[in-house]
Amino acid sequence: MPLNTPLVPASNFVRGAERIYARSDGTPTWEALEDILGGLEGGEAVAFASGMAAVAAVFDLLPAGARVVLPQDCYQGVVALAEAGALRGRWRVERIPLEDTAAWEQACAGADLLWLESPSNPLLRLADLAAICAAPRKPGGILAVDNTFATPLNQQPLALGASLVVHSATKLIGGHSDLLAGVVVARDTALAQALRKVRELVGAVPGTLEAFLAVRGVRTLALRLERAQQNAQELALRLAQHPRVARVHYPGLPSHPQHALARRSLRGFGTIVSFELRGGAAAADALCTRVRLIRHATSLGGVESSLERRSALPGQAHLPPSLVRLSVGIEDVEDLWADLEAALG
Ligand SMILES: Cc1ncc(COP(=O)(O)O)c(C=O)c1O
Repeated sequence: MPLNTPLVPASNFVRGAERIYARSDGTPTWEALEDILGGLEGGEAVAFASGMAAVAAVFDLLPAGARVVLPQDCYQGVVALAEAGALRGRWRVERIPLEDTAAWEQACAGADLLWLESPSNPLLRLADLAAICAAPRKPGGILAVDNTFATPLNQQPLALGASLVVHSATKLIGGHSDLLAGVVVARDTALAQALRKVRELVGAVPGTLEAFLAVRGVRTLALRLERAQQNAQELALRLAQHPRVARVHYPGLPSHPQHALARRSLRGFGTIVSFELRGGAAAADALCTRVRLIRHATSLGGVESSLERRSALPGQAHLPPSLVRLSVGIEDVEDLWADLEAALG
C-alpha cells in the first residue's frame, strides 16, 4: 500500500460486474484530488481539465436567457467566456464593483449566477462574502466564488453560504507551474452531480498525471502559502516606499482601501501583489525585462516568483497601463527584493 496517491493511468475499469468508464465515473487519481479539495473547502469537489473548464461547467448549468452578474475586476478569461456566451444570446451579463456590497446583495434576489472573485485578479479587490452570501437569493440562483487567490486555507466561502467554489488548480493548489487543472466544489450534492454530468458530456476531464501532480502539490500548500505570503507582505511594504512606485495593491497593507475587511475575512492576505509604476507602461515594461531571478511570465501561484504588465494583454486595456502583477514565490525575500530593487533602477 503506497503512502502517496497512486497514479492510475486507466480509462476503463471493472468492479465485479460493473463496467466503469473514466469520463463518466472518474478515476482513483482524480478522486484523490476531489477528496482533498472537497475536504478543504467543505463540500463535494469535481475536478476538471483546467480552471477555465471548471468555470465553463458552472456557466453550462444556466438556463437559457439567464442573468449573470460578474465583478468589474475579474480574471479576463472568465469575462471573455461570459461575453462570448452573451453575444450568442445564452445569458445577459451585468458587472458590479466587488466593493459595492449593497449592489451585490440586491443582485442576489434576481440573478441566476453571481460570480465573485475575491481577492480579484489583478487588482486585489475584495468582496464582503459573508454579507453577500447571506443575502436572500432567487430560487435556484447560484453564487459561485473563484477562490484561486485565497485558497481554502485563507477563506472558505461554502461555510458562508456560497453555492460553489471554483479553483484554477493550475495556480497555488498545484503550486509548481507544471500542470493545468480546475476544481469546482459544491455545497450540495445535486449541484456536484450536475457538474459531473457536464464534465461527462463535454469531456473536460483532468489528466491523470495532472491530478497526481495537483495532489502532490496540495500536500505542501500550507507551507508554500505561509512562506510566499510572508514574502508578499514584505515586498508590498518595501514597494510602497520605493520612489519609482506610484501605488501598491495588496490587501495586507493598511493603505489598501479594504484592509479592514481583509483583516476580518481572510486568514492570510495572499501571494499576489500588484503595483503601478511612475513612468507609465514604458517603466513597467523595462522592469519586466530587467528582472533576473523573478521570471517575466504570465501565470501565477508557483514556487517561483513571476511578474507581468497586465494591461499589455488582450482585453485588459481598462487596467492602469503601468500595473505589474507580481506572483510571489517561496524564494529568500532578500534575493527577491535585491532583484526588484535593481530592476527598478
Ligand atoms: C482567478 C483565476 N480564475 C481562473 C483562471 C483560469 O484557470 P486556468 O488557467 O487553469 O484555466 C485563472 C487563470 O489565470 C485565474 O487567475
